[in-house]
Amino acid sequence: MKVLAIMGSPRKNGTGTKVVEEIELALTRMGPVQMERLHLVDLDLKPCRGCFTCIRAGEGLCPIKDDRTMIEDRIENADGIILVSPGYVQNVSSLMKNFMDRMAYTNHRPRFFGKKAMIVANGGAGLDKTLDALRIAIGGPSVVSELAYMQLPWPISPRARGKRSARLQREAARFYHALVENDMRPRLSDYMRYRFFKSTSLETKEWLPADYEFYKDKGDYYYDVKVGARLKITSALLMAVTKPLMKDMAPWHAEGSSKEDKRP
Ligand SMILES: Cc1cc2nc3c(=O)[nH]c(=O)nc-3n(C[C@H](O)[C@H](O)[C@H](O)COP(=O)(O)O)c2cc1C
Repeated sequence: MKVLAIMGSPRKNGTGTKVVEEIELALTRMGPVQMERLHLVDLDLKPCRGCFTCIRAGEGLCPIKDDRTMIEDRIENADGIILVSPGYVQNVSSLMKNFMDRMAYTNHRPRFFGKKAMIVANGGAGLDKTLDALRIAIGGPSVVSELAYMQLPWPISPRARGKRSARLQREAARFYHALVENDMRPRLSDYMRYRFFKSTSLETKEWLPADYEFYKDKGDYYYDVKVGARLKITSALLMAVTKPLMKDMAPWHAEGSSKEDKRP
C-alpha cells in the first residue's frame, strides 16, 4: 500500500518529520506499506490569487501553473495520505494553508474517493484547532485517523511521553486498518455534504457553473455505491431542519440581476 505524507512545516528535519518516521515504522510493522514524503516547502506551489476561478468555473482553468497538478497526481496514485502541520498560532502553517486554498475546489467538488486520510498536528497549545483545519483540507478522502502530537520547547515527563507514543501507535493502527478494509460506504457527514451541494448546485447554476456540471448527472452519491435507507432518511430530516436556517444565503433572483461575477 502506498501512503503519501504531505508535510506542512518549513523545517524538513523538525518534529513533523520525526512523527511521520514513527508512523511509518508503526505501519510497516503491520504490513507492506510504502511511504513517500512530499515537503510543501520544496515545491513550486504559488499563493492562491483569490480569483475564485477554480470554484466557479473549474480547477483546470486556474491561472496559476505550478506543482498543484503534480501533487494531485501523487495523491491519486496513493492509497492513503497523511497531512502534517505544525500548530502555528493555533492553526496550520502558512504552507499548509496555501495548499488548502489551492485545493479549495475539492470542498465543492470532492475527488480522490476511496483514499484514506490521517491528519497530524504537532506542537503545544491549540492543536485541536489545527486538526479542525486539517480535517477539511481536501474534499474526498475520508479522515480515518487524527493525531495531536505534543512537542513542547522543554522536556516532558516519561509518563507524558508514554501517553504520546501510545496515542501515535493507536492512530497509526486505526489508519492501517482503514487502508486495509477500504470501506467505501459514505458516512453521514459525507452524504450530507453530497446532498447539500447537489441540491445547491441547481440553485446556484448561474454563479457556480462548475458545480452544476459536476453534480447534474450524478445519482445517489458521487460514485456508484449503495446508500442505505437509514442514511437517506436521516439526511433528509437533517436537510429539512438545516436548509431553512440558511435561507438568507440562498440566491436572490432579482429582475435585472447580472449573471456576471462582479468581483473587482
Ligand atoms: C510561527 C510559529 C507559531 C507557533 N505557534 C504555536 C502555537 O500557537 N502554539 C504552540 O503550542 N506552539 C506553537 N509553535 C511551536 C510549533 O508548533 C512547534 O515547535 C512544532 O512542533 C514545530 O513543528 P516542526 O518541527 O515540524 O516544524 C509555533 C511555532 C512557530 C514557528
